[in-house]
Amino acid sequence: MSPERNRTSLVIKGGHLIDPAAHIDAPMDVLLKDGRVVEVAPPNKIKGSADEKLDARGLIVAPGFIDLHVHLREPGQAHKETIATGTAAAAAGGFTSVCTMPNTVPVVDSVEWIEWLRQPERGAVVNVFAIAAATRASKGVTLTDFRALHSAGAIAVTDDGKPILDDTIMREALVLGGELNFPVVQHAEDTRMTENCSMHAGARSFRLGLRGMTAAAEASVVERDVQLAMHIPNARLHVAHLSTGDALKSVRRGKRAKARVTCEVTPHHFTLTDEDMRDYDSNYKMNPPLRSASDVEAILVALADGTVDAIATDHAPHAAHEKEMEFERAAFGITGLETALALALTRLHREKRIPLARIVELFTAGPARCFDLRGRGSLVRGSVADVTVFDPKRKWTFDVAKSLSKSKNTPFDGLQLTGKVVATIVGGKVVYSGSAIRDVRQAC
Ligand code: DOR
Ligand code: ZN
Repeated sequence: MSPERNRTSLVIKGGHLIDPAAHIDAPMDVLLKDGRVVEVAPPNKIKGSADEKLDARGLIVAPGFIDLHVHLREPGQAHKETIATGTAAAAAGGFTSVCTMPNTVPVVDSVEWIEWLRQPERGAVVNVFAIAAATRASKGVTLTDFRALHSAGAIAVTDDGKPILDDTIMREALVLGGELNFPVVQHAEDTRMTENCSMHAGARSFRLGLRGMTAAAEASVVERDVQLAMHIPNARLHVAHLSTGDALKSVRRGKRAKARVTCEVTPHHFTLTDEDMRDYDSNYKMNPPLRSASDVEAILVALADGTVDAIATDHAPHAAHEKEMEFERAAFGITGLETALALALTRLHREKRIPLARIVELFTAGPARCFDLRGRGSLVRGSVADVTVFDPKRKWTFDVAKSLSKSKNTPFDGLQLTGKVVATIVGGKVVYSGSAIRDVRQAC
């Protein structure tokens, strides 16, 4: 679903364009008109005229960022987040499109709910693509009507929050998904091995006296799914929030065998380890949990070498009363939309020397390919005019009190970061600039 389209035109001048899908990494001006990219040209060579100008000197201009994994909590849990507040946080984080997860109340498992999500009354300020439940009420027993959900505009199916555990159901989901070219997104966790667990199984969980989730609980599900995907014609498997080195091995094997297997990792899984969890602080509790240092190392290698397709936030807002309690009882999940780019730039680019173009790819062309978001993830002429402009060098401190998300559950409050979003443009319209959400309707 798209917010209203801009009828005016905007030229972005003086910036350095990184568009990995178009193999561009050079100073370029970009002209946007009527919601589309109409010209991309070297500095001062744009032929057309524009009503508005954005000065991008010293800044990176990139295709609009796409987040494949966001919990917007509507319908039903507006006390945690709404589509309006979640997409405002997305815009502040540089995301022009977000894919919303169906583990709401009720679960988004019908055409009616897909249509409800798309209504303008929801107040989205960025594009919202709906992911539908793979099984009815995400109970893992009966597949939803993939054909109807696909026709209604759902872009993938998942039972996220829970795995699709049953072998036959998962196989059928991949068969049917393959027929429709519909990705099946797996939350890979063998819940038979993780009951009552609240963090990663390791020395830290032992010292803290908490039951731990083994890496095997994730890796065994990913291995089974990759095996299925390798043997089912056209099946499309997407592994959500992959967190272990062993799961990466299966994904690599699937990719080498030319299976249609993709995966995403979150900023927290490439930034923190289980050893970072302090004092039973539930802002460090999420599922999958923070893993070992060797898992993080494996993820960093896979981010650099192309095995990982996308960085996705798994933005999982929860209210204070759902987090502030004993660690084992607190809800799983942390917010992530406003810190993702800065964590990637700080951790991956500055510390690990991963090229800027690869990082931009992980936020743009990579995710667009995972879910076939046509016209997005690149700024070639004719693409949708979704653009993210950022300063890769600006230092800032994340202050959760200023977050636009309704929830404040993050371990990154007070963290000094490098790299900041300067402007977020959706359909040719600036929806975020500097520190504020623009009223998109008024700007029409
Ligand atoms: O940490 C998580 N939070 N992991 C999930 O899989 C679900 C999510 C949520 O919905 O809060
Ligand atoms: Zn999940």
